[in-house]
Amino acid sequence: RRAALAAELIGKTRTVPDWPAPGVQFRDITPLLADAGTLAAIVGAFADRYRNAGIAHVAGLEARGFILAPAIALAIGAGFIPVRKKGKLPWRTVEEQYQLEYGTATVEIHADACAPGERVLLIDDLIATGGTMMAALNLLRRLGADVVEGGAIVRLPELGGAARLQAAGLPLFTLCDFA
Ligand code: PRP
Ligand code: ADE
Repeated sequence: RRAALAAELIGKTRTVPDWPAPGVQFRDITPLLADAGTLAAIVGAFADRYRNAGIAHVAGLEARGFILAPAIALAIGAGFIPVRKKGKLPWRTVEEQYQLEYGTATVEIHADACAPGERVLLIDDLIATGGTMMAALNLLRRLGADVVEGGAIVRLPELGGAARLQAAGLPLFTLCDFA
């Protein structure tokens, strides 16, 4: 069933060459979200894995992690925490800068977003270099969270993100790979 879902996800993801910059093969997941059955299968796969894992909060990464994380949180009875691009959160924040496949960015989290020792799941749509998820991991660890796993629909193995995150002590769970 895992293999059948992976094949479906790979088949329905749209690849856009040279976007947003020359040389980038952009993996567009919007066709997966638009298909009712595929969307349910994606959320269901994460819900099955984390339903009884004692997760207090699911942290979603702006912007595409915001699509998935609240759906997963609802399905497993957890709350949702937004990790946002700099300048969007109204209250006191902690921040981390990071490199992307195509630039640099800063993310923030509210300073009281979670309690020390709390079990948190990190969710994004895709892991490329792992820079975004690494920055979010660092933010949550600064708040004292126990970050249990990083989850995403797609992993781009040749960019090395999974290895980098695993070396930092974050296990990863992804639904499909794009070679
Ligand atoms: C994309 C994607 C991930 C990140 C993955 O978001 O949604 O968040 O890149 O890349 P990484 O593993 O190399 O960090 P992007 O920053 O392009 O912006 P968006 O969420 O605003 O679309
Ligand atoms: N984020 C970073 N690299 C990406 C890619 N190639 N496709 C989609 N999102 C990305």
